[in-house]
Amino acid sequence: MAIDLAVVPVAGQGTRLLPSTKSQPKEMLPVGRKPVVQYVVEELANSGIGRLMFITGPGKASIENHFDTNWELITFLRETGREELLEELDFERQSLEYFYTRQRRQLGLGHAVLCARPLVGDQPFVVALGDSIIGVNAQSNIVARMVERFEADGADVVVAFEEVPREEVVRYGIARPADGEPGDVFELTDLVEKPSIDEAPSQLAVAARYVLSPRIFDALESTEPGKGGEIQLTDAIRRVLADGGRGVGIRLKSSERRFDIGNFGSYFRAFTEFALADPRYGEELRAFVRQRVEPAGDGDAGCS
Ligand code: G1P
Repeated sequence: MAIDLAVVPVAGQGTRLLPSTKSQPKEMLPVGRKPVVQYVVEELANSGIGRLMFITGPGKASIENHFDTNWELITFLRETGREELLEELDFERQSLEYFYTRQRRQLGLGHAVLCARPLVGDQPFVVALGDSIIGVNAQSNIVARMVERFEADGADVVVAFEEVPREEVVRYGIARPADGEPGDVFELTDLVEKPSIDEAPSQLAVAARYVLSPRIFDALESTEPGKGGEIQLTDAIRRVLADGGRGVGIRLKSSERRFDIGNFGSYFRAFTEFALADPRYGEELRAFVRQRVEPAGDGDAGCS
C-alpha cells in the first residue's frame, strides 16, 4: 500500500523566536503570504500524502483552526460580495484528513514521533518537521521521491539531506554514507546528532524529511535521552541501522533549499526570499530593497 500518512511534529516552543512566539506557534508565522505550516502541508499533499497527524503542545490550537473550515468567514465573504477572496481559503477544501495529538512533556523530537504510535501502528510513514519549508513556495516533491526509494529498495529508513558548510555540522543530524563519494541517492550507514566538527562523518545534514518503517517505534521506546538531554529521532534511526535495517539518503536538489524557521536569521532570509518571489508584490519589493541597500548614486561609486 502506498504511504499516505505523515507525522508533523509542531510541539517545539520556539524559544529562539521570542517574543514573536510567546502566544503563537512558530509554525504559524507568515513567510510571504502563508504561515509556515501551510507550505509544509501543501508540499506533503503534492507528494501524495492524504493523512496528517500533528504532534502538538500547549499554545498550538491556532494550527488546528487554520486547517479547519471557517464557515463564518466564508459566509461573511459571500454576504459582503468578496467572493474573490474565497480562493485564498481553497487549501481548506483539500481532501486531507487531519489528526492531532499532544506531546504532554517536552522530551525531544524522538519522543514527539513516538506519540504518533497509537495512530500509525504497523505501517510505514513520513515525518515532516513543521518548521522547515523545502524549496521556494514549497515547490518540492522530495517526499514522493523518498517514498519511491523506500518502496523500491525495501528500506527501513529514508532521510533527506542537504550539504552544509563544515562549521554548521554542529547544528544538525549528520550522515555517515557508505564508502565512496555519495551521489544523489546513497546508502546510509549511520547518523550522528549534532557532532563536533572533528567528529562529523560528512557535511550532509538531515533536512527535516524522513520516511520510516514502524521498526522505529521499538527503537524509540528504548532510546535514552541524548544531545541536549532529549530523546533524539536521530539516535533511534541509528539504532535501526545498527540492528541491520536498511538506510537510504537522498540529497535535496539545488532548487529545493531548506528554509528553517527556527531562528530570526533564517526566518528573515526565508521571508525575504518568498516576498521577493511574490507574483504581485515581488517586483515592487525588489525596487524598494535595491533603493534601500544601494547607496544613492554619487556618480563614481566603486570605480577603481
Ligand atoms: C532536528 C533534528 C536534526 C535535523 C534538524 C533539521 O534538529 O534533530 O537531526 O538536522 O532538525 O532537520 P533541531 O533543529 O530540532 O534542533
